[in-house]
Amino acid sequence: MDYKSAVAAAVASVGCGLSMEELSALIVVPKDSKNGDYSLPCFRFAKISGKSPVAVAQELKDKIALPEGIEKVESLAGYLNFYTDKKVFVKTALEKVLEKKQDYGKSDIGKGKTVCIDYSSVNIAKPFHIGHLSSTAIGGALYRIFGFLGYTAVGINHLGDWGTQFGKMLAAYKLWGDAEKVEKGGVAALLELYVRFHKEAENNPELDDLARSWFKKIEDFDEEATTLFNKFKELTLAEAFKVYDRLRIKFDSYAGESFYNDKLDAVVNELEAKGLLRESEGAKVVDLEAYNMPPCIIVKSDGASLYSTRDIAAALYRKKTYDFDKCLYVVAYQQNLHFKQWFKVIELMGYPWAKDLEHIAFGMVSLPDGAIKSRAGNVVFLEDVLNRAVEKSLQVITEKSPDLENKKEIAEQVGVGAVIFSVLYNNRIKDIVFNYDKVLNFDGETGPYVQYTHARCCSVLAKGTLGREKDFSALDNEESVEVVKLLDTFPDAVREAADKREPCVLSRHIVELAKAYNKFYLAHRIINAPEGAKNVRLMLTSAVRQVIKNGLTLLGMGAPEKM
Ligand code: ARG
Repeated sequence: MDYKSAVAAAVASVGCGLSMEELSALIVVPKDSKNGDYSLPCFRFAKISGKSPVAVAQELKDKIALPEGIEKVESLAGYLNFYTDKKVFVKTALEKVLEKKQDYGKSDIGKGKTVCIDYSSVNIAKPFHIGHLSSTAIGGALYRIFGFLGYTAVGINHLGDWGTQFGKMLAAYKLWGDAEKVEKGGVAALLELYVRFHKEAENNPELDDLARSWFKKIEDFDEEATTLFNKFKELTLAEAFKVYDRLRIKFDSYAGESFYNDKLDAVVNELEAKGLLRESEGAKVVDLEAYNMPPCIIVKSDGASLYSTRDIAAALYRKKTYDFDKCLYVVAYQQNLHFKQWFKVIELMGYPWAKDLEHIAFGMVSLPDGAIKSRAGNVVFLEDVLNRAVEKSLQVITEKSPDLENKKEIAEQVGVGAVIFSVLYNNRIKDIVFNYDKVLNFDGETGPYVQYTHARCCSVLAKGTLGREKDFSALDNEESVEVVKLLDTFPDAVREAADKREPCVLSRHIVELAKAYNKFYLAHRIINAPEGAKNVRLMLTSAVRQVIKNGLTLLGMGAPEKM
């Protein structure tokens, strides 16, 4: 039922000088439902007719025929307030959720449109660290949300698999590496070699020459260098996949920086031909002074390409390959300038789709000092954070429900979910300090709290059987209506999360839903209520369970049935 249109139509039909569309745009949902469920401010009519808003509202109130589903209309201080018939509203909304089930909230507004999402984008031979968490979780959520809305979502892991640092890596490995140790130790072992290289190179500059020569070998596809490099790549990805599995993340493409090696000359030539390149101390750059930015370096004085060059090549390739409507880059705000610069270069190249490139920036995630010991160097491996969160949630679960079967499996869903939820709960741009106790608090605005509410719904549903007799007046109370309103607006939240590229719109919505349900749960009997009331309250519980599950799934989290 579309109340807004129904109300607009009713007002339009008494002839007030505005079209239905204009009226629809004026109608608001009052913050306090005491002022109605929909409200029309009458100040514009007042201007048209020369009467006071109060008089116009009163006049309209007397003339209007109540549309279906609207119980009463009142005029108050220049507003026309409409009150829905709660029994009809609740019944219609619950039936809609229960009919659509896992598809509730789904839509086809994105049909025929493609959104590329560049996220996670880990670096080879470097740890999958907590800094990649936000990109991975936010990107993964957006990927699923856009897909749910009918878009063709293309998930791209733009691997950091090119750069002079790999010369250092190979040099260090050749000097001090040990195949078995690296095989066992994985990225942490590689990192150790890398750290050692940097330390020793401080006193021994010859090492840098060695690194350069190894990098040259990679560039020239020397057999040994290529084999080793691929080995490191495999090793890194194998570790990353373990984390991706736990985070329920997937990609459609792993075309990383090295994928564009053979597509860089074309970029340089095109920039040259379009008169955009300028020599600067031996380097080739695109001047961006007119846009108050430092120049975008395209080719270094030694002939090497840059991160930006590869991003430009990648954008051209993605446009050609996927013909995207939007291409999103879920990358930390530290790279703001980088994206602004090369987006501008694409624009200067004359591509109108430059406007469809969007940097989806996010803030820093940090751990309170000493919160976790890392395996190597100063970095915090994401895997360790997940393990620790799972360990801690296992403790909580064991305390709270000692008899629960498959505790480990549930602790995995709760612990990992808590970590994901913690970065999806705030506006992207906010910096966050990650705190285990806070994110695992079952009573806070957390992942576990939402999951717990889902499990509560499951346990209520397991206790009662849904009968035929329904008394919707048993849901005509503040707590129930509040729950149903949140169920009813869930599809809007999904859409808004996509429009704003903010998964927190969704995570906040399901936290509000969980809170509202728990309030309802404390205020009303369910299983022991009279038959007609019991059945509608079970319906409500079932709808809440479904919507929480849909929300958690979109965010990339599990929804255990018991906790
Ligand atoms: N690998 C980069 C990093 O870890 C992120 C890459 C982001 N994607 C891009 N197309 N530049 O910082």
